[in-house]
Amino acid sequence: MTAVLQTEQLSLRFGGVDALSDVSLQIAESSLHAIIGPNGAGKTSLFNCLTGYYRPTGGAVRFRGSDVTRLDPAKVAGLGIRRTFQNIRVFPKMSVIENVLAGGHLRATPNLLSIIASGPRFRKVERQLREEAMESLDFVGLADQWSNLAGDLPYGMRKRMELARALIANPVVVLLDEPAAGVSSVEREELSRVIQRIHSRGICVVMIEHDVDLVMEVATDVTVLDNGRVIAEGAPHDVRSNPDVIRAYMGRERK
Ligand SMILES: Nc1ncnc2c1ncn2[C@@H]1O[C@H](COP(=O)(O)OP(=O)(O)O)[C@@H](O)[C@H]1O
Ligand SMILES: [Mg+2]
Repeated sequence: MTAVLQTEQLSLRFGGVDALSDVSLQIAESSLHAIIGPNGAGKTSLFNCLTGYYRPTGGAVRFRGSDVTRLDPAKVAGLGIRRTFQNIRVFPKMSVIENVLAGGHLRATPNLLSIIASGPRFRKVERQLREEAMESLDFVGLADQWSNLAGDLPYGMRKRMELARALIANPVVVLLDEPAAGVSSVEREELSRVIQRIHSRGICVVMIEHDVDLVMEVATDVTVLDNGRVIAEGAPHDVRSNPDVIRAYMGRERK
């Protein structure tokens, strides 16, 4: 198997809390890989380590074999590893397309400022980025919302706008942190379709998701975290019937 992303004995410690302990996992090229587990299991911490937001206390992150453990978030994004956040990050007073462009600027390496400073080329780059932003919005079904204020969009649409932002820069892999949390069932279906379309475009998708039915429907691989450790991994139907997984979920629900 070729891994697009891989962790080797990743650990992350906050004071006395082991957010991640010895997490070794592989995300296969062109997979739709779900990361599930109870609250506090370490799922978001894992994403933060994979995208340069947190520096792990131990272990390594590899992207197509290269060590990216110590790169900062902008560099990681520049490699084509893009993400969305559990707590939505929206500039409410900016238009939808400007919000999407705020993602595209990550790709304008080595850095956008030097391009702006260089003058005449800037317009061309900007035009290209706007075209890509529109394509991206079209892809998530929000093309007709492009000029509206992001703050005026209903929550589910904002989640899709975040997807558009992650898609603008030709990503290799997108990491989605609870893309369907808190949205209506209609939006959930729409999001599920968009996620499957992203995957069928050849982009690897890694998704943290609480909705086990959604995971079972769309994922090709599942990893289950509990207390910062991998407790199960494999195909969705195998993981679902795994007694450790059932125990991890049931234990928390009774609290
Ligand atoms: N920045 C941080 N500072 C201190 N503790 C943190 C921080 N981020 C996460 N944690 C702790 O790490 C553990 C895992 O959290 P998190 O990765 O957010 O879990 P999940 O996304 O699975 O709900 C929790 O105990 C959480 O309190
Ligand atoms: Mg989380």
